[in-house]
Amino acid sequence: MSEAPALETFQTRDALSDAAAGALADALRAALAHDGRASLIVTGGSSPGPVYDRLADADLGWDRVTVTLSDDRFVPETSDLSNARLVRERLLQHEASAARFVPLVHGGATPDADAAAAEPEVEALAPFAAVLLGVGEDGHIASLFPGAPGVAEALDPVGPRGVVGVPEARLAPFVPRISLTARLLFRTSLVVVLITGEAKRALVERVRAEPAYDPPVAAVLRQSLAPVRVLWAP
Ligand code: 6PG
Repeated sequence: MSEAPALETFQTRDALSDAAAGALADALRAALAHDGRASLIVTGGSSPGPVYDRLADADLGWDRVTVTLSDDRFVPETSDLSNARLVRERLLQHEASAARFVPLVHGGATPDADAAAAEPEVEALAPFAAVLLGVGEDGHIASLFPGAPGVAEALDPVGPRGVVGVPEARLAPFVPRISLTARLLFRTSLVVVLITGEAKRALVERVRAEPAYDPPVAAVLRQSLAPVRVLWAP
């Protein structure tokens, strides 16, 4: 366990999105220069869309980049709730349209079946150039919710599974999910945690101040396997 990093604060959401897109583009360029290929994990929710709009225009050799998700909702890609749809519509555009996308939802019978199908393909992409995560107001990351069955195991970097089915979400939208676990999320050169608003700032500050306070995001902030930047704007 290491000390949680301090928040990097920005005055506006535009400045926050510029910084996040810049950090992800830099990480991709470094991995491409080093390995000739790179993989990126992005996330869902409402905060990252403007980051994707910016990143889509980055000139960096997207034809050698593979993009996948930290988690998705177990819905068809035509649904407004689909994170894959968000990524296709906001990130895989312009320059980034040349990237390969690996979805987590495969149209299987259950979230668990799709998680098992996705796991080898996602695992083959590790180590990742960068992982983008949001944080819920309950402290969840990806679709790993506080108090959910199996969440402690999913937050253990040496846990047995890299991708899991989450039959029940603990926060809206209340649809089953598929989520990467700590075993894969921390195999990266950089984690960027993107947060907005006073409630999430207070939550992250509380993780920094109170060792006994342990929502899922604490597992990200206190681990020492991957460097973490926490970017915040009001
Ligand atoms: C999802 C996410 C989830 C999200 C947080 C923050 O599919 O819902 O991947 O973990 O990142 O809930 O969401 P906001 O960006 O909407 O605050």
